[in-house]
Amino acid sequence: MQAKGLFIHTIGCQMNVYDSAKIESMLQTEGYQTVDSLPAADLVIVNTCAIRAKAEQKAFSFIGRLAELKRQNPNLIIGAGGCVAQQQGQQVLKRAPYVDLVFGTHAIARLPTHINSIAKRKCRIVDIEMSQEIDEVDQMAEAGTTGDISKFVTIMRGCDNYCAYCVVPYVRGRETSRKPEKILSEIKQLVRSGVREVTLLGQNVNSYGKKEGLCSFPQLLSYVNDIEGIWRIRFTTSHPKDLSTELIEAFKQLKKLCHHIHLPVQSGSDHILKRMNRGYTCKDYLRKIERLRRACPDIAVTSDFIVGFPGETTDDFKQTLALIKAVEYDGAFAFMYSDRSVAPASRFDKKVSEDVKKERLQILLEIQNQYTLKKNEALLDSVQEVLVEGYSKRPGDNISQWTGRISTNKIVNFISPSEKQIQNRIHPGTILPVKIENALAHSLWGQMVLPESAPTELKGEQSYAA
Ligand code: 5AD
Ligand code: SF4
Repeated sequence: MQAKGLFIHTIGCQMNVYDSAKIESMLQTEGYQTVDSLPAADLVIVNTCAIRAKAEQKAFSFIGRLAELKRQNPNLIIGAGGCVAQQQGQQVLKRAPYVDLVFGTHAIARLPTHINSIAKRKCRIVDIEMSQEIDEVDQMAEAGTTGDISKFVTIMRGCDNYCAYCVVPYVRGRETSRKPEKILSEIKQLVRSGVREVTLLGQNVNSYGKKEGLCSFPQLLSYVNDIEGIWRIRFTTSHPKDLSTELIEAFKQLKKLCHHIHLPVQSGSDHILKRMNRGYTCKDYLRKIERLRRACPDIAVTSDFIVGFPGETTDDFKQTLALIKAVEYDGAFAFMYSDRSVAPASRFDKKVSEDVKKERLQILLEIQNQYTLKKNEALLDSVQEVLVEGYSKRPGDNISQWTGRISTNKIVNFISPSEKQIQNRIHPGTILPVKIENALAHSLWGQMVLPESAPTELKGEQSYAA
């Protein structure tokens, strides 16, 4: 039987990227094969995001494009999933009557059953049921072999923090952690398919396992650290209020834990942090950064910022800029505050105008870009260990160009010596010593150095010869 074509369009965060990968492998076992053009698809899945109004608009604009496709091919099945689907349920069908399936964030494991029913009975299904159990994350198919070196692994779902601006607790449900055994077995499976780096995913990994009385997050990290074949461990996201001493210590103790922490502060003003319901002050936050840097001096710190939160004055914004200058972040994402009707901040007074938000965003990014570049420049002439992730031919000439990341999560593009015998030993998954020769705003450039000339501490077991 000929495979049916599957086209998945993913909008939003890493959690959605993870869910889409699971959807893809689940549907592959149902006889679907991924295609990269819409007209070749028998099934289109849109995995939506509701974090900001813009993401939601993107979802509906993509769904809008599918109307014509469905007219041309009435057998086409269209499924809308993710956070917008969870929030709007039936409303999605009202807006886009040609959609066959609306599935929420807890319905992914039921997808194959729903799709089979639709194919057989030409019915329409809305499944936005939210279970308290996390079993369905485990029921999702194991990811197939994709050749990727780095993969996400969900360790928990949902969020109980209720930051005033955020939809996540409403669309992803209560915070629930997966059992360590399930997580570790998924990672071991990934190792068998060639994965060397995992990023543990959760909205607030620092509270992993607390509710369920499972092991702590740093303990989980140490179990992952013990898995043979895994070389690097990352995680995201950490909530500053729950960052523990044990986690800070883990940066000292766990060799495979990468020297990077994404610690979203959102604002540098205590008055705004309080209105956001973030549960920490600027001083608490700075103290934690200081302790992290003491434990791990080269740790890269990145953050998220929201500008123009309701009630943010010029002075509040100046305090955010002062915080950026005090911390000197390695990088940051910044967003203009966006009203989400389910989140309480949508009903807050003193809304900031779009023009002011735009202006603040620009100022913030300009300042942050200077620090990002400064941090990159600090690495000039140093030799760094790069985990190779990919390969590209440099346009115009025949030189091999590789790309990968260093422990602090910075992207490094580099060229390698042209000798065949060296070239043959470089492939995705190898860790190589690279001398940094050029620092750009968002990446570094370098040249591979021969292991003989690399500093001894870089001649790790998995390096080069792996
Ligand atoms: N408006 C703007 N940014 C938001 N974020 C979350 N909700 C909103 C919102 N309503 C940002 C936060 C969060 C990141 C994932 O998205 O900075 O850390
Ligand atoms: Fe949203 Fe706050 Fe939970 Fe992060 S911690 S997902 S910002 S509610």
